Amino acid sequence: VEQSYIMIKPDGVQRGLVGDIISRFEKKGFKLIGLKIFQCPKELAEEHYKDLQSKPFFPKLIEYITSGPVVCMAWEGVGVVASARKLIGATNPLQAEPGTIRGDLAVQTGRNVVHGSDSPENGKREIALWFEEGELVPWTPVQEPWLRE
Ligand code: GTP
Ligand code: MG
Repeated sequence: VEQSYIMIKPDGVQRGLVGDIISRFEKKGFKLIGLKIFQCPKELAEEHYKDLQSKPFFPKLIEYITSGPVVCMAWEGVGVVASARKLIGATNPLQAEPGTIRGDLAVQTGRNVVHGSDSPENGKREIALWFEEGELVPWTPVQEPWLRE
């Protein structure tokens, strides 16, 4: 099954947006299989964003992600990766549609409150990077037949 790594960034935690953000994925109908609050070490932030290493904003990005605790989540469901990206909205919150997390709750690219995996492959890779195996919990939601025919 498809999985996405969703992370509430330090600004989202500090601004008290954790409940609101989790609620959006929960209400949509995805399944939460991993959740923790975590102070990210520099090395992990660098590994997570290694594709952006050559960008001028990379040092600031690492500083941002390690500036306070993040909330790490693993979400599972059919189509969860693309759907989560839609729920999150455009990278630049000023261009993100109202109704999306960034569109509703943020103003700046460098403080865009949440991360979402950009492909199913990266979803799996990032969940393996941020979670120990024993931290992921498989379970069957009772609402399943009310979500899918
Ligand atoms: P993530 O879900 O966090 O991966 O965001 P994204 O997929 O929408 O964007 P991308 O992967 O291209 O960039 C990762 C993160 O780097 C963004 O979410 C921003 O926090 C940050 N970032 C990207 N572009 C810029 C930029 O031009 N300036 C600054 N300051 N930060 C940027
Ligand atoms: Mg990205």
